[in-house]
Amino acid sequence: MQKASSALLPVIALDRKALLPLHKQIYDSFRKHITHGSLRAGQQIPSTRALALELKLSRIPVLTAYSQLLAEGYCETRIGAGTFVSRSLPQQEPVHGRQPGRNQAVAPKPRSVARRAQWLEPYRPQPWLGGLGAFCVGQPAYEEFPFHLWAKLVARHCRHPHINSLHYGGPFGWDGLRAAICSYLRTSRAVRCDPHQIMIVSGSQQALELTTRVLLDAGDAAWVEEPGYWLTKQVLTALGCKLAPVPVDGEGLDVAQGIRRCSKARAAYITPSHQFPLGVTMSAARRLQLLDWAERSGSWIVEDDYDSEYRYDSMPIASLQGLDRCDRVIYIGTFSKTLFPGLRLGYIVIPEDLLGRFAAIRNAMDLGSPHLYQAVLADFIGQGHFARHIRRMRQLYNQRRLALVDSLRKRFGRGVEILGAEAGMHLAVTYPMRIRDTEVSLRAVREKLWVAPLSSAYAERPDKRGFILGFGGTPAVQASEAVARLKSLLNA
Ligand SMILES: Cc1ncc(COP(=O)(O)O)c(C=O)c1O
Repeated sequence: MQKASSALLPVIALDRKALLPLHKQIYDSFRKHITHGSLRAGQQIPSTRALALELKLSRIPVLTAYSQLLAEGYCETRIGAGTFVSRSLPQQEPVHGRQPGRNQAVAPKPRSVARRAQWLEPYRPQPWLGGLGAFCVGQPAYEEFPFHLWAKLVARHCRHPHINSLHYGGPFGWDGLRAAICSYLRTSRAVRCDPHQIMIVSGSQQALELTTRVLLDAGDAAWVEEPGYWLTKQVLTALGCKLAPVPVDGEGLDVAQGIRRCSKARAAYITPSHQFPLGVTMSAARRLQLLDWAERSGSWIVEDDYDSEYRYDSMPIASLQGLDRCDRVIYIGTFSKTLFPGLRLGYIVIPEDLLGRFAAIRNAMDLGSPHLYQAVLADFIGQGHFARHIRRMRQLYNQRRLALVDSLRKRFGRGVEILGAEAGMHLAVTYPMRIRDTEVSLRAVREKLWVAPLSSAYAERPDKRGFILGFGGTPAVQASEAVARLKSLLNA
């Protein structure tokens, strides 16, 4: 018996009223797909029967077109397997987008896009964020993740999918996961919430965008930490908001300076548990000052609690949201650090009176995060694997950060300042340098060391130079050698 063909059907537009015979139209379409590279050498094409069925034709014109393609060497048959684009054809690069016409200059004129699409520069990944390995910021210990357990849960949910998980869900996400997150947040993060206030999103990034869409208009100003998280600034810029950078000192965001610089800000975006990138924990006095400002000015606080599960020398710091008595805080969390970023799952805790607004905007953005992984994650948390994994990782990351701190002190000596090593999966270092930190980071990329320059986290003129070093994905035994290589780049 012949195996069912797995060939994809290429787009073949037939004009039944045209003078050109149907077999010629089919032949022309295939030849174009092959010469333009959208059908590649060695790729299977559909059987004549399947194509005739798809095009609602008799097989005769299809057979005629195929025999012409075979005769001219565009295609070849393999007995028992089917018809393929000839392997001997030179590989054509796929043709994308516009081709310069005969009278057109080679470089086409830029075409107009919406003004708001130009508020951000065209996307170009930062070189130092482009790889995995030593010092990569945001890389957890992938090799330690309990994939055997995870795989069992995925398999179970695939084998016996809940019918609701196959259909569209509501904008808030999978109820089982919302309940699991709610009890975790109440117990471990002192967040005040009920399950119905939790919305599952595709990572903190979506949470930041959704929150901004709901709370701010284009032209509104928002406080951002200086230095601060790159992608918060990108969200605000993309939505036409004005950045009001507020310096961070040893107590976190300097609220008094924020009020002096931009008292009318509609919101403050902060990372109070472990400031990104300097690692400061916001003091109790500043937290109360910030809440007081938000209440008096009718502004919002967006708390990005991205990695607070990992604290090494003390208990995790309670959330700012837990102190809020006026429902001015939107609390955002993610599974990117505790599990893995490719999961793309995070959550927002939304004040009661804003639930409808958030749901409406979310519904216009997408129709929810994939249910399969929400259901798997609900079990993963419910069965205790999540808490166990965090406990194990806390110990492991503690070893990794101690090894890194030790190596930095040994190699860099007294000039090095290490910031924020008491929590999270990264620390920041400053060091007197004759060259710019971006230059060192670019050199490091060539060495497969992924160090983000501290200056890249500033919206305005940087007042610190140095690096952000991730240690979650850098085993303790590799720390000393990697730090030695980084140090040698400063002297090169
Ligand atoms: C400050 C901050 N917020 C959020 C995130 C995580 O974002 P996401 O949940 O979209 O992966 C990161 C990751 O590096 C971060 O540094």
